[in-house]
Amino acid sequence: MAEPLVVISDVQKHYGDFHALKSIDLTVDRGEVVVVIGPSGSGKSTLCRTINRLETITSGSITIDGKELPKEGKALAQLRAEVGMVFQSFNLFSHLTILDNVTLGPIKVLGRKKADAEKEARELLDRVGVGHQADKLPAQLSGGQQQRVAIARSLAMHPKVMLFDEPTSALDPEMINEVLDVMVGLAKEGMTMIVVTHEMGFARKAADRVVFMADGEIVEQAAPAEFFSNPKSDRAKDFLSKLITA
Ligand SMILES: Nc1ncnc2c1ncn2[C@@H]1O[C@H](COP(=O)(O)OP(=O)(O)OP(=O)(O)O)[C@@H](O)[C@H]1O
Ligand SMILES: [Mg+2]
Repeated sequence: MAEPLVVISDVQKHYGDFHALKSIDLTVDRGEVVVVIGPSGSGKSTLCRTINRLETITSGSITIDGKELPKEGKALAQLRAEVGMVFQSFNLFSHLTILDNVTLGPIKVLGRKKADAEKEARELLDRVGVGHQADKLPAQLSGGQQQRVAIARSLAMHPKVMLFDEPTSALDPEMINEVLDVMVGLAKEGMTMIVVTHEMGFARKAADRVVFMADGEIVEQAAPAEFFSNPKSDRAKDFLSKLITA
């Protein structure tokens, strides 16, 4: 049975006079993988950022596992732990080793013992294929390796849902697949994921649903096979035709 995990209801977001999210309704079930696509400026990043409250919303509601997003303080730190986020830029702490990057959150936010946090961090780093890099600094790793560390760092917090905002768009082409492969693996293991990406291969392979946004609205959504072969709206048709000819 589908069990709603992230429920976004009638969310509006304004930046001053600019209406960035318009009446967004989106429910993501536990274990579901939703890929969000759409033209530049359509509000994809804004949507992601509202889900872990990097951005406040103007009105509407967002709940995760039945709980309204907390406004501040300890509850907000806890929420951020429950919602993993991986960005285009890896945002690793440059002065900390790979291992310390992954253990920092579990130790500081979750109160885990150092030895336990390190054991799990090494397992996670192995899982994303960079276990042998644990004692290096981020600058000693390739972009693809750093992004996999960023994924491991999020997973170390045992998130209920993972948000990815164009995680491969800053990577050299040969490194894109090593990151996408980790994401496909996570999807297969049942992680709930919301993924903004231009990688339509990933959408076809791993998504349960594609959500197409334009001008701050969800214009249409469908299973990937249906969406790619039979887009309904002119805006989606136009977007897809540009992707294919690009
Ligand atoms: N902090 C901000 N202040 C004002 N306007 C903003 C801010 N952040 C985003 N916007 C505007 O909101 C709109 C949506 O931006 P957003 O970054 O969510 O788009 P996007 O779909 O992620 O685009 P891209 O594909 O280029 O990443 C854009 O018009 C952008 O200029
Ligand atoms: Mg964006």
